[in-house]
Amino acid sequence: MSVLLQTGKVYLLRKQFNNIFSKCIFYRKKSDVSRKFVTFDEIVALRRAEARRSLVVQVNSESSFNELHGYCSKYASINDIHHYRNSGGEHFMLIEFNSEENLKDVLKSCSSHQKDVDVMGVQSPFLWFRASSGVREKYEQSIKQLAVKDGSKSVNEEVLYEELLNCDSVSDQIQMLYDRTVLNDIGVRLRYMVARQLEVVFSSLYANIRVQPFGSSVNGFGRMGCDLDLVLSNNLDEHNLISFVTQSSQKHRLVYQEKKSEGARSPSQRHMELLGALLELRVPGAGRVQRILNARVPIVKYSHELADVDCDLCCNNTSGVYMSELLWALGALDARVRPLTGAVRSWARAVALTNAHPGRWLTNFPLTLLVLFFLQQKQSGPILPSLNYLISLAGKEDIRVAEENLNCTFLRDLNKLPTDSYSQNDDDLQTLLFKFFEFYSQFEFQDKAISINEGRAIRKPNSLPLYVVNPLEQSLNVSRNVSYEECERLRLEVRNAAWHLESCLDGHKSDDWGILGLVEQKSSRGLKKLLRVGNSHRLVSVKDLFKDNDDVEPSTEGIRSKMEKF
Ligand code: GTP
Ligand code: MG
Repeated sequence: MSVLLQTGKVYLLRKQFNNIFSKCIFYRKKSDVSRKFVTFDEIVALRRAEARRSLVVQVNSESSFNELHGYCSKYASINDIHHYRNSGGEHFMLIEFNSEENLKDVLKSCSSHQKDVDVMGVQSPFLWFRASSGVREKYEQSIKQLAVKDGSKSVNEEVLYEELLNCDSVSDQIQMLYDRTVLNDIGVRLRYMVARQLEVVFSSLYANIRVQPFGSSVNGFGRMGCDLDLVLSNNLDEHNLISFVTQSSQKHRLVYQEKKSEGARSPSQRHMELLGALLELRVPGAGRVQRILNARVPIVKYSHELADVDCDLCCNNTSGVYMSELLWALGALDARVRPLTGAVRSWARAVALTNAHPGRWLTNFPLTLLVLFFLQQKQSGPILPSLNYLISLAGKEDIRVAEENLNCTFLRDLNKLPTDSYSQNDDDLQTLLFKFFEFYSQFEFQDKAISINEGRAIRKPNSLPLYVVNPLEQSLNVSRNVSYEECERLRLEVRNAAWHLESCLDGHKSDDWGILGLVEQKSSRGLKKLLRVGNSHRLVSVKDLFKDNDDVEPSTEGIRSKMEKF
């Protein structure tokens, strides 16, 4: 990473950022045409650095931009400003400064004075901009220097509906749906800001911690409004980890006393209890805190009202991050993987095969593995390699070990993958989507398990209805919660979907042609919900499109069963 910074290639990398979750990442520079792909670690490092020099400021309205920009420019130079609104209609500006030093200079000018004696000020990257009490300064210059990027206008559902209706082909529709609904730059920035906020607030209690997003916020399959999975862990990278383990006992003779946990609950449960309390008391924006402590990996759920994101926080679950890295890498290998997965996820939500609340049904994670597995099949030339192949190519620099000695080693730098080892297939997205449905309508779920490690179906080790091998812990089934009825529904719905796509081949364009007939939701009242729902001016309004089905109740039991699978 430091090499990249020194050689000034960061600009190239930053340019790709804007498209990071919408396209396969190509990283080409004149002197090194062989370097096509950015690594996950490079992206994470850049996003984290960006968050360290950014602030989120609540303002009165979009028109506060000029005043805020002028005010901050007195203290520091600004790289970028983005505007968004949360569900409550409140306005925010996400400001990225030129450097962390710049940000510190701005923070020196901040006041934490509160009128309310019950409220103790908290220093965090979420602030508000007080209305000017005296004569307003004029900041006409600002707008010319830097235009605000309005995150809230990035998706307009009515336009999207028309665009999908008017596409020339189903492939175009799939690509369009993906491009318009993929988690955008401001969505990613905000998620890293929420992680940064926890690092700032918790750092006085925990030495050298790191809070990292994982799951769909970073794995390349995230959509506007997706939840934010967060893990709090020690800030030790692999190299540090090795030197920490081998040297600390020998070289450093003074060692901090540790606080051992007492009481009936496990240490991780006690920590999560504390984090829950801190979220309630010390983290601005965090609300509706819910502790789920009896799972194998205890979590605290909360809603970040300022960033408008629902969060799940856990501790030391680094395998979740490596899993995200694996999914990210497979998604980056071929430009069709993410749009295809996006279409399948939208379809599954629309027919209520998946649901945001875990229970006896599928969730997006195993569903994504179903798509990746399909793309590894040999029928018309595999598009993706098996995980075993990526493991066989791994070098020393790829070694990663997660909690409980879980080996998460696989090839990280995709530039090292021989080009003839994948993607001999030039099917378009429409064909792939149809083949996906066809493949699973014929899949022998009763005998076979899905393993992206092997890239081929293997014998099921038990009689659970659906068996999807956990790629990083192969003795586990990530869909063990799925009931027989839900598995049967999956088989039925893939057949229906294949039939629908086949019926579109005659070229006749009705109002539910192609992808529209797959992603529209049927509500409990039998009414069709088209794409045109919700407030089109909100940043995350398109998530309404994929809202939970009214028929299914959230269940804590379901949440537990999900977490036990880790
Ligand atoms: P959405 O939140 O639905 O958009 O997708 P997601 O990929 O973020 O899924 P989810 O929030 O349910 O889970 C977050 C991450 O946790 C996933 O991406 C996986 O890396 C991991 N994960 C989820 N379910 C399981 C599971 O059953 N077993 C294991 N080992 N990891 C899981
Ligand atoms: Mg998630």
